Amino acid sequence: MYSIVNCKANTMATNSTHTITFDGDIALKRIKRKQTYLRERDILKKLNEHGCQNIVEYRGCDDVKNVIYMTKVNPGVTLEYVMSKQVFHLYTRRDIWAQIWAALSHIHTLGVKHGDFKAKNILMDEDDIPYICDFDLGAFSSQVSDDCHKAKILYYQLFCIRDGDTHHWPYHNSDKKYRNGEQIHMLTGPELAKDIANLMV
Ligand SMILES: Nc1ncnc2c1ncn2[C@@H]1O[C@H](COP(=O)(O)OP(=O)(O)OP(=O)(O)O)[C@@H](O)[C@H]1O
Ligand SMILES: [Mg+2]
Repeated sequence: MYSIVNCKANTMATNSTHTITFDGDIALKRIKRKQTYLRERDILKKLNEHGCQNIVEYRGCDDVKNVIYMTKVNPGVTLEYVMSKQVFHLYTRRDIWAQIWAALSHIHTLGVKHGDFKAKNILMDEDDIPYICDFDLGAFSSQVSDDCHKAKILYYQLFCIRDGDTHHWPYHNSDKKYRNGEQIHMLTGPELAKDIANLMV
């Protein structure tokens, strides 16, 4: 009932810097700039070698054509799209969040920052399992505060959505967030961890 299975997947995404196409169960990301290609390829490779869960699965590459092969997530709609179209059951949101948070934490322990962490870069499969994708702005770096800040925003996007309310959480930098005129305090890292732990009970 709460599955995202009915959402339509994008069949192809393209912009000036890269193209995504699909061939059977493989998603191919062709990136124009060599440096960007190498960065995403190396990060994905490392995360997969370390068995990171809830990350798109790296399947190989073509260094001549600058193509990264990944397992296609089905239907592969973005979490942003899903959140704009439907309201999840609370238990589904908890599950999704727990997986996303664990995956991001794992990435960080491996010394990788995502660099563009947001609902649009999380793909959902038919069983509501999230997969973090799009590491082309990532880096081998321990400077992960921006990822954590974005994770907090995502957390609030996921849990502040009420039935029938498709309002999008505004992306701004202040620590004080307002929603329908109501001020909401953005949690610090430890507060967030505690909050999540409580949520999981
Ligand atoms: N492994 C995959 N399985 C299914 N779909 C994928 C996969 N990888 C990418 N896509 C599709 O391609 C889109 C863009 O991928 P990605 O986020 O890696 O590139 P991007 O740099 O953000 O491109 P854009 O600027 O178009 O969002 C995703 O939102 C998704 O629809
Ligand atoms: Mg993206």
